[in-house]
Amino acid sequence: MKSIVVLHHLLLFFFLLFSHVSSWKKEEFRNCNQTPFCKRARSRKPQHCNLIATDVTINDGDLVAKLITPNRFEQNPDQNSTDFQPNPLILSLSVYQDGILRFKIDEDPVYNPPKKRFQVPDVVVSEFESKKLWLQRYTKGVIDGESFFVYLFDGYEAVVRSDPFEVFVREQSSGKRVVSFNTHGLFDFEQLRVKKEGDEWEERFRTHTDSRPFGPQSISFDVSFYGADFVYGIPEHATSLVLKPTKGPGVEESEPYRLFNLDVFEYLHESPFGLYGSIPFMLSHGKSHGTSGFFWLNAAEMQIDVLGTGWDAESSIVLPSDQKRIDTLWMSEAGIVDAFFFIGPKPKDVVKQYASVTGTSAMPQLFATGYHQCRWNYRDEEDVKNVDSKFDEHDIPYDVLWLDIEHTDGKRYFTWDRALFPHPEEMQKDLFSRGRRMVTIVDPHIKRDDNYHIHKEASKNGYYVKDASGKDFDGWCWPGSSSYIDMVNPEIRSWWADKFAYSEYVGSTPSLYIWNDMNEPSVFNGPEVTMPRDALHYGKVEHRELHNAYGYYFHMATSEGLLKREGGKDRPFVLSRAFFPGTQRYGTVWTGDNIAEWEHLRVSVPMILTLGLTGITFSGADVGGFFGNPDTELLVRWYQVAAYLPFFRGHAHHDTKRREPWLFGERNTELMRDAIRVRYTYLPYFYTLFREANVTGVPVARPLWMEFPYVEATFNNDEAFMVGTGLLVQGVYAQRARDATVYLPSDHTWYDLRSGTAYKGGKTQKVEVTDADIPVFQRSGTIIPRKDRFRRSTVQMENDPYTLVIAVDGSGSAEGELYIDDGKSYEFKEGAYIHRRFIFSNGMLTSVNLAPSTSKFESDCTIERIILLGHTTKSKTARIEPSNQVTDIELGPLQIRSGVRSSVLTIRKPNVRVSDDWNIKLL
Ligand code: NOJ
Repeated sequence: MKSIVVLHHLLLFFFLLFSHVSSWKKEEFRNCNQTPFCKRARSRKPQHCNLIATDVTINDGDLVAKLITPNRFEQNPDQNSTDFQPNPLILSLSVYQDGILRFKIDEDPVYNPPKKRFQVPDVVVSEFESKKLWLQRYTKGVIDGESFFVYLFDGYEAVVRSDPFEVFVREQSSGKRVVSFNTHGLFDFEQLRVKKEGDEWEERFRTHTDSRPFGPQSISFDVSFYGADFVYGIPEHATSLVLKPTKGPGVEESEPYRLFNLDVFEYLHESPFGLYGSIPFMLSHGKSHGTSGFFWLNAAEMQIDVLGTGWDAESSIVLPSDQKRIDTLWMSEAGIVDAFFFIGPKPKDVVKQYASVTGTSAMPQLFATGYHQCRWNYRDEEDVKNVDSKFDEHDIPYDVLWLDIEHTDGKRYFTWDRALFPHPEEMQKDLFSRGRRMVTIVDPHIKRDDNYHIHKEASKNGYYVKDASGKDFDGWCWPGSSSYIDMVNPEIRSWWADKFAYSEYVGSTPSLYIWNDMNEPSVFNGPEVTMPRDALHYGKVEHRELHNAYGYYFHMATSEGLLKREGGKDRPFVLSRAFFPGTQRYGTVWTGDNIAEWEHLRVSVPMILTLGLTGITFSGADVGGFFGNPDTELLVRWYQVAAYLPFFRGHAHHDTKRREPWLFGERNTELMRDAIRVRYTYLPYFYTLFREANVTGVPVARPLWMEFPYVEATFNNDEAFMVGTGLLVQGVYAQRARDATVYLPSDHTWYDLRSGTAYKGGKTQKVEVTDADIPVFQRSGTIIPRKDRFRRSTVQMENDPYTLVIAVDGSGSAEGELYIDDGKSYEFKEGAYIHRRFIFSNGMLTSVNLAPSTSKFESDCTIERIILLGHTTKSKTARIEPSNQVTDIELGPLQIRSGVRSSVLTIRKPNVRVSDDWNIKLL
């Protein structure tokens, strides 16, 4: 009997596995029409909401009001007598420093709702509360009805209009609106109910039934962005940077943008369907207002429509016609309204405002910013040794070698297949002896095997997510029958974190880091390949309420584990596939199972830029495409583009041909080597930018409009991007391209870093392209630090000297920064770092200290070359102070690379220490 059951399970497993790895199946996933809350919300007409804000008071520094339905002022707070009648809701609105408005709408506990609705904990950083401005009073006035005004920020106020209920932010002097909520009256809040006989709340999708024990509980509303030309954000979708309208006159009607973390194999490159992660944060940008943002902290399934102009023509709502506007509709299956308005008005203000709520990104270790080599799977220790030594043989730098699921003993994470990997510690130590690290995969599904220690402890301690009947949820994933750790519980997270201790994770060493995959969570036999919505978490929270945050908690717990194992001294590196607001504090993400096609290379850029705009700057896409075999040209181009994106990893599915960079003939090896080397030369610049992201939230890779907010031509450009303020990278996304059309913004001069050629900004330039590289330009007025010596990994580069590339602007000036710390610990938090500002002006370069004067961090690194772009001088020498030495100025190469023969002015061997104050004057 037992063997029949095993056989049946095996067959089921292979069936699921097979059906899972074939291409994307639309019918496996619900569309809006098959999702009742979405269908209902989408069919509502403007002015549907008839709520009135009443009983407005100031309480504990917040503005508080009741939202009631007219004629129900005299509410009987008895649940039974209010069946099918909505109870009043509670609105509370708070103001925070720097132009942030937060407001919550929830059920009023006075009416005894059957349970407390889920509010997502652990996302808003604790420092945020200290930024609250305690409201003392409101003023009353009339704007299309009685309204209540509170101070928000210099020149801005928040307004709550009573009837019909609306919340908005406006400029005080002009009265111009910035962002608004419920302007179109699409607000709807389905209140929890107690099930009675005859209530049919179950929802069916394919073979699955969702019991929905509390009935429908969705929330929907409209948000309008004023002065907006475009809206952006709300990852993760494989779409353009600009979010195209999904509905409205003249718009090709599509599904709304879906936010529901899903394991989507072979996703389409142009689709609003939900992928692995969700961030309900949208930014708008336009010429007239600038930038503003809206963030809804809610972890349930969400669907968002961007409404085309004129969608509301039939309503009688009149809005200022001199303000261009984009309206959006937000729909979520559960939770509460916990919403934030960010007033901007510059793009960097909005990302900083968002970062002050959800945190800035963790400072990565230096090694993590190098190149990563992954494959499903490097087979065994010999394979690992071989791949590692080939990098050396071919002189290609890399920092990390990755092991996918096959390295484990039967997909039991924290174990090794001892036949294939008999000496894991020696293997890691050997890699580390050459400065390289290893990453292994640890997924959240736990094999239900009584001999597996993780399963034994988790089941004994009740650490698994429960199914609707209260039993440990049992689903299918890589190991077969699996249960899922309930990471929402802090106690369980702490237990999980302890599993990364070297004594627990046998075979791990300090140079081993972690990859969290399948954490949407992926459940092969679950509805839409995930966990049923009525599964239960700690605190009786239904899975539907926190689905989008599940992977976030798993990532958090793993990151805490790496922190713990080294007593809080070593910065964790954990890559995660699922994400949620706040993920940036715990690690890195990648864009999942893309395809080896040109269009996927193309869409990887807006996907990564969008992640950066919404807080997660350390992200990347599988280089080469996960599925399929890229032709060699595509693979080379992919390396060339990805070398400038924050997270740089080659990865491939097990069915693909091997594609390490040396397998395509000498010329192609050279091209991929060059692309990876270029990345390594820019690591000082990247690291400086990661530090900026860590302090401010401003991303490393930026859409052009973030740097050029007034230049309209940049607003929907997602083929090019900025790395910091200095580099503009134009991807090449087509076969046999021999030229590229590049828009170079503003009145800057742009220096082509392949040749040193200067281009005038403010226009579109057509530039030549060869197979050797993609067009990359340095903006005039910037100074970029590099390390130009070729090494095997970041470790070997530690003491290498720097090159500074100065591109002067029209007035002969330029500025840039360099940040250095030990690259691994948290001592930088105590001020142990070097931070310099380089200022070039009037023929003199000065290095100014930005670090605390008490900084204990030392470096003997020097500056070995200074390249001057755009500077016309007859000087043949330069004087260095305070040493009073004179050095030569000569012509030299712009880049040290095969086949690049440009000659640019170079101050040779100034050999000043990077940590010292000095200046260099052209004589
Ligand atoms: C799915 C991930 O997206 C992919 O990168 C990985 O190789 C496989 N799971 C196997 O672990």
